[in-house]
Amino acid sequence: SYEGEEIMRSPVVTVMGHVDHGKTSLLDYIRRAKVATGEAGGITQHIGAYHVEDDHGGVTFLDTPGHAAFTAMRARGAKATDVVVLVVAADDGVMPQTIEAVEHSKAAEVPMVVAVNKIDKENADPDRVKSELSQHGVISEEWGGDTQFVHVSAQSGEGIENLLESIQLVSEVLELKAVPEAPGKGVVVESRLDKGRGPVATVLVQNGTLKRGDIVLAGLHYGRVRALTNELGKQVEEVGPAMPVEIQGLDGTPEAGDDFMVLDDEKKAREVANFRQGKYREVRLARQQKAKLENMFSQMGQEEAAKVNIVLKADVQGSLEAIKGALEELSTDEVKVAVVSSGVGGITGTDANLALASEAIVVGFNVRADAAAREIIEREGLELRYYSVIYHLIDEVKQAMSGMLE
Ligand code: GTP
Ligand code: NA
Ligand code: MG
Repeated sequence: SYEGEEIMRSPVVTVMGHVDHGKTSLLDYIRRAKVATGEAGGITQHIGAYHVEDDHGGVTFLDTPGHAAFTAMRARGAKATDVVVLVVAADDGVMPQTIEAVEHSKAAEVPMVVAVNKIDKENADPDRVKSELSQHGVISEEWGGDTQFVHVSAQSGEGIENLLESIQLVSEVLELKAVPEAPGKGVVVESRLDKGRGPVATVLVQNGTLKRGDIVLAGLHYGRVRALTNELGKQVEEVGPAMPVEIQGLDGTPEAGDDFMVLDDEKKAREVANFRQGKYREVRLARQQKAKLENMFSQMGQEEAAKVNIVLKADVQGSLEAIKGALEELSTDEVKVAVVSSGVGGITGTDANLALASEAIVVGFNVRADAAAREIIEREGLELRYYSVIYHLIDEVKQAMSGMLE
C-alpha cells in the first residue's frame, strides 16, 4: 500500500437507460458538444467517457448504449461507477432496458438518480414514470422513498442544473477519496484497433496517477504507455484519479470492464499477460463445448421455433434492403430467420460484438471484415460468410435452416 495523501476525488457517474431515451443527448447538453448527431444511426455503440467541471465541482460521466445487445456493458458500467443516472423518457416510460439498468445498479449497490427526460414533449407523463419505477422498487423522495427524480429536457436544457446538483448531493455522502501519488490503476472503458495508432484503450483511472512511459497490464494485454490523449484530443503527460484517458502502447485491445494497473517491471507484465491468455483460452474452449451440448439438448426438446440470426453488412443500401427482405421471407413456422442488425460498410468490431451477443452469423455482401472484427470472430468462434451473389447467400441460409430441422 502507498503512504500518499488521500484527497477528495470527482464522482464517476454512469448514464443508463432504454435505447433512445436521451442518454447521449443529456451528456451532449452537459458538455455543450454534439456527439449524438455524429453517431452511426444515432445508436451509442460503445461507452464514451467524459470529464466535466462546473460550478458544482468535477464529474466524470460514462455513457452506455441502450440497445438490448449491450447487457454486459451495462453490467460493467454499473460496476465501474459511484452513481448511476437512470434516464427515462417521459413520453415512453419504463422499458426493458430501464428495468435492466435498475437491476444492474441494485446488484452493484450503486445509488441512483432518475432523470425523467424529454419533459418538453407534449405527451410527457412524469407521474407515470414515477409510478412504473415504484413497481421496481425505485421510490421517489416525494413518495417517501430515497431516490431523487429530476425532470429534464436534453433539448431545452431545462432541469439539467438540478440534475448536476442532485448528482453532487448523492456523491458528497459517499465521501469519495483517492491517493494521487500511487501508481495508476482502474478499469478499461472501451478499446479499439485504430488504423494509424494501433490498439487504443479508453481507461478510467480509479486511483493513483497514470503517466506516459508507465508499464501497464490491462486484462490479457500489456505494454508501455506511448501516449495519453484526453477527451479533447489533447496529449497529456499524466492523469489522476477519476479521470478518463485514451492510451496507446498496449499489445492488443483489452475488453471493456477489464482492470488495468501500472507495474514497475515489463517482464512481469508480459508474464502475467501471457499466463492470463493461456487461462482465457482454456475457459473459452470449455464454454464453447458446454454451449454446443446445451444447443443439442435444446434442439432435441424443441418447442419454440429454431432461429437463424444474421448480422448483415453490404456495400450499398440497395443490396442491403433486397437481401434483408429475401432473408426474412425465408422464415417458416419451424425456423425463423432474423436480421438482427444490418448496415452499409465493412464488418467492424461492433458488428462482431453484436453477432456475439445475439449468437448470429456474420454475413458480408461485397464487403470484408476489418482486423478488429476478425480478431473477435476468431477468438469467439463466430461464423463469418462472404457473398457477392444474392441467391448463393439465400441458398446457403435455406440449407442451414433445413439442417436445423434434422
Ligand atoms: P442510445 O445510445 O441509442 O441508447 O440512445 P440515447 O439514450 O443515447 O438517446 P439519444 O441521445 O441518441 O436520443 C434519442 C433521440 O431522442 C434523439 O433523436 C434526440 O434528439 C431525442 N431526444 C433526446 N433528449 C430529448 C429531449 O429532452 N426532448 C426531446 N424532444 N427529444 C430528445
Ligand atoms: Na439513440
Ligand atoms: Mg446514446
